[in-house]
Amino acid sequence: MMRTILAAVLLSGAVAKAAIASEPSPELIAYGKMLVEAGDCAGCHTADPAKPFAGGKRIDTPFGAIYAPNLTPDRQTGIGGWADADFTRALRYGVAPDGSNYYPAFPYPYFTRMTKDDTLAIRAYLGTLAPVASRNKPPDLRWPFGHRGLMRAWNYLFFKPGLFEPDQDKSAAWNRGGYLVTGLGHCGACHTPKNYFGADKEAQALSGSEVGGWFAPRLDGAARSGLKSWSAEDITEYLQSGRNAKSHAGGLMAEVVVGATSKMSDADVQAIAVYLKSLPPARREPTVTPPNDAEMKAGQVIYARLCIACHEADGAGAPRIYPPLPANALLQSINPSSTLRIILDGARTVTTPRAPNTGEMPAYAKQLSDEQIAAVTNYMRNSWGNAAPLVTPAQVAKARKQEP
Ligand code: HEC
Ligand code: HEC
Ligand code: HEC
Repeated sequence: MMRTILAAVLLSGAVAKAAIASEPSPELIAYGKMLVEAGDCAGCHTADPAKPFAGGKRIDTPFGAIYAPNLTPDRQTGIGGWADADFTRALRYGVAPDGSNYYPAFPYPYFTRMTKDDTLAIRAYLGTLAPVASRNKPPDLRWPFGHRGLMRAWNYLFFKPGLFEPDQDKSAAWNRGGYLVTGLGHCGACHTPKNYFGADKEAQALSGSEVGGWFAPRLDGAARSGLKSWSAEDITEYLQSGRNAKSHAGGLMAEVVVGATSKMSDADVQAIAVYLKSLPPARREPTVTPPNDAEMKAGQVIYARLCIACHEADGAGAPRIYPPLPANALLQSINPSSTLRIILDGARTVTTPRAPNTGEMPAYAKQLSDEQIAAVTNYMRNSWGNAAPLVTPAQVAKARKQEP
């Protein structure tokens, strides 16, 4: 049992070890490419698609902006001059070759769960890229966060370095899923609530968090707003196709699907599903005071006028074309940010090789007032058996000000 688990977690072991000493083998490079996709490194490190991995992309954090650096093998401006040990230390401990600390906008608090062999496979693949000369931009953070020295204290308080610890009592798939979710896939970077210092609230792992004006919903087993009603197959389909019979991936999750999960092997996506389905609810569902009759009526009028053409009066829509609204976990999330973004800005269904056809939801920011959007949102969040806390016009006004 333990051996299968280790074999699954350290999939690369043999391939990696055999090749690192000399020129990287084609197998090692292909394996590294697969890891780079699973970790969505390009999602942050590519600003200009014509210069993959050359950095420069702006990452906004609650503390200011950071620019992702150049990962191409250019010796002056990229990481071409780095030793392998420098690379592993950066990924697993968040420390730069000169000894200074990185900010956790670089997901090293998750990448630390990765084996050294996997980091070296990543390095081998990055070494095959065309070198691009592109100088790194310094971060633009609010005082006092501009001081990298502060991250030593941050690490001391919040960073738990160390490999993913396999659980012998669980299946090989569960362990592989845990390795991907808590490590390379850094799902918690968006889905785990953060404390005042931007660190994960570990006791509430994967129980939903606001990120970049969206809400990354609960991935635990909560009944209404978590994945209790999703089967492992539903999760697999969503991660591979960006949609399933329950919901569609929008915003930041659409990028994760296109850049990372749709490119993972079937076995890896299924392993993630096995792991997520094992998570008990990390906190309670919120208590809900339903809207009064007048509020429900106001929302229903708007819904009947603008939304039923696609979503139907009973909210059932059409699976994989118009996502169903009853029992919809994202819609019933405690935080309505993602729902408001979709109503304000509209949405275009993400396309993947497995699900190439597009669908379109109109934007209603111009047509509807803050009061009207709050009303129709509250109606959907509390009809057809749904229950979720009330959304105020002030919340809609705030969402409107966020850049899409
Ligand atoms: C969520 C965005 C994000 C993702 C995903 C991401 N990175 Fe980064 N990475 C950053 C940021 C931001 C920095 C710079 C941090 C700083 O300046 O303190 C960084 C820094 C680095 C550095 C240090 C480079 C240098 O020149 O000092 C390396 C190496 C690196 N990332 C590799 C990777 C790899 C490999 C992956 C995928 C497995 C990856 N990153 C995924 C945002 C990201
Ligand atoms: C960059 C931020 C980000 C990362 C990283 C991320 N997600 Fe998400 N995720 C989101 C957002 C935002 C949504 C809501 C999408 C929407 O509005 O349609 C979401 C939605 C989901 C959903 C749908 C839940 C529902 O109830 O509709 C699943 C499942 C999911 N993510 C799984 C994952 C997994 C597994 C990973 C790691 C491999 C991951 N996510 C990484 C931001 C992220
Ligand atoms: C022309 C057809 C159409 C109309 C009209 C329409 N929608 Fe949509 N709606 C869609 C499509 C298509 C999606 C899926 C978008 C995607 O793939 O991200 C969607 C998604 C949604 C979602 C997200 C559900 C999820 O799980 O991802 C919500 C909430 C929503 N619509 C609400 C509304 C409201 C409220 C109205 C009326 C004010 C409305 N829609 C009108 C087509 C429509």
